[in-house]
Amino acid sequence: MKVIVTGILGQDGANMVEYLLKNTEAKIFGMIRRTSNPNFVNCKAFIKNERFQLVYGDLSDSVSLDNLVRDIQPDYFINFAAQSFVGCSWEIPLQTFDANATGVARCLEAVRRFQPKCRFYSAGSSEEFGDVQYSPQDIHHPVRPRSPYGASKAAARHLVKVYRESYNLYAVHSILFNHEGTKRGEEFVTRKISKGVARIYHAIKNNQSFSPIELGNLDAQRDWSDSEDFVDGVWKIMNQEKPKDYVLSSNETHTIREFINKSFLCAGIDGVWHGSGQQEEMSVSTEYAIKNEIQSSILVKINPKFYRPAEVELLLGDSTPARKELGWNPKISFDNLVERMVKYDIEIFKI
Ligand code: GDD
Repeated sequence: MKVIVTGILGQDGANMVEYLLKNTEAKIFGMIRRTSNPNFVNCKAFIKNERFQLVYGDLSDSVSLDNLVRDIQPDYFINFAAQSFVGCSWEIPLQTFDANATGVARCLEAVRRFQPKCRFYSAGSSEEFGDVQYSPQDIHHPVRPRSPYGASKAAARHLVKVYRESYNLYAVHSILFNHEGTKRGEEFVTRKISKGVARIYHAIKNNQSFSPIELGNLDAQRDWSDSEDFVDGVWKIMNQEKPKDYVLSSNETHTIREFINKSFLCAGIDGVWHGSGQQEEMSVSTEYAIKNEIQSSILVKINPKFYRPAEVELLLGDSTPARKELGWNPKISFDNLVERMVKYDIEIFKI
């Protein structure tokens, strides 16, 4: 069995490769784009594995995708490559659309023309639901994106459906709610918080001053899971009798503020909130400051530059069908996820 996985330098692609090496006998071809300075930090566990091979390709280059599919003749093509940062998609809308929507069309064309038996997975997003109409959101929720990123993923979803129905391909585009972990990029809010907490933890421990973590909208609510649970769900979605799309989610929602509270708690730092709106801040409690002889006291403050032009205020998924029909059984709870991320970042923190 041969599997092409794209996006392997990122969190999901890397977790997918680790999962496949552990749970299958497949030979895995991990696609990367040519850059002068690629970062393999997420690939340490498999880069030298004899069942893994790096291959060059690019979602913007159909020649590369055609050649890969024609030469490898894969059984599965799992596409996690994307411009995945919503916040940046207003600055680079065309690149976002080209990678996330047209790029999926290029993959589908490569599969259709050179290996139509290959099963194709496109990573969908709860950002496609946007300004949500009801909660929890299931696979039937209307598509109402609020960002160029959300619009690009919605377009990919339609393309997958069109190719599936027109050419009888096994092509799926399942909706992934937020998913995080220790391989998460630092621009995403969860990792920004866990890294910030680790930095402050070490500053306090070394009796040094520290600057606060600067964030945008703390009221947004997200349905967070662990990416390692999701790659198991994705593999189950890829191995049904007939292609069908599913939602993967934790079925819980939490505000950014709750993520912050839990993170500081995991680090043993006692914080209190005060103020509101752009003046809202979290500082160390008086008792904690006295006990630890703290030099600086503000832990979190608002920086309006992190507000988005349009926000998805609430995401809460319903993954009941994936759990019942595919036997998908996510193992990592919200509390475990926060703890894992904070403890890991405290461990690896370097001044
Ligand atoms: N990144 C970031 N940085 N987000 C912040 C900040 C900040 O400083 N302050 C507040 N937020 C809020 C954002 O406004 C948003 O409401 C929420 O935190 C989560 O932001 P991200 O972590 O950037 O993720 P996302 O929800 O926009 O998108 C993620 O989930 C999607 C699935 O719903 C990404 O992983 C997407 O690729 C994925 O499709």
